[in-house]
Amino acid sequence: MNIPQENPQYTYIVNPDLSKIDWDYVISLFYKIEWKHRKAEEIAAAFKNSTTTLFIFDNDRIIAFGRVVGDGRYYAMLADIVVDPDYQQQGLGKYLVTTLNNQLENYHFVNLSVAPGADHFYKSMGWKKQTTAFIWPQGPKQLRQHCEAE
Ligand SMILES: CC(C)(COP(=O)(O)OP(=O)(O)OC[C@H]1O[C@@H](n2cnc3c(N)ncnc32)[C@H](O)[C@@H]1OP(=O)(O)O)[C@@H](O)C(=O)NCCC(=O)NCCS
Repeated sequence: MNIPQENPQYTYIVNPDLSKIDWDYVISLFYKIEWKHRKAEEIAAAFKNSTTTLFIFDNDRIIAFGRVVGDGRYYAMLADIVVDPDYQQQGLGKYLVTTLNNQLENYHFVNLSVAPGADHFYKSMGWKKQTTAFIWPQGPKQLRQHCEAE
């Protein structure tokens, strides 16, 4: 899929120097979208252990980010695709997903777990629901939100 055009007002950085990222601010963005289970130190470590990270800035302010967790060759998963609500509906989410995905040519499996309600966002970019995926639910909420009824 074509990558949405970059907005010249913003700065787009693949694999930025993660030691310069303000992780408390990243956590505040997670809070803003109601994802409240991450901690600054842990998310910093998780991003450092990721194959690819992508951040978008408005001047110095982080406005969107996403990452790929993978083995560098066969398996990859997109994770933490987040756009600051003040900057949504401008194509930044699609930019994150397509830019990260375009780096994964010739992989055997490229997956992601969709947040409840975000199906349309991914389907509109050509992503397909995987019929063969299984999950080991990490608690009752996940069982409720991400699993087929038995
Ligand atoms: C999902 C998200 C990344 C989209 O970012 P965005 O910058 O607003 O998206 P874009 O502007 O590139 O694309 C907007 C399109 O996605 C759709 N969309 C955006 N968020 C959506 C949602 N939560 N549910 C359904 N559709 C959504 C819009 O309707 C629009 O569709 P259209 O192009 O057919 O009009 C953003 O809403 C977000 O950060 N949400 C919270 C975290 C999240 O759910 N992450 C993704 C799931 S893992």
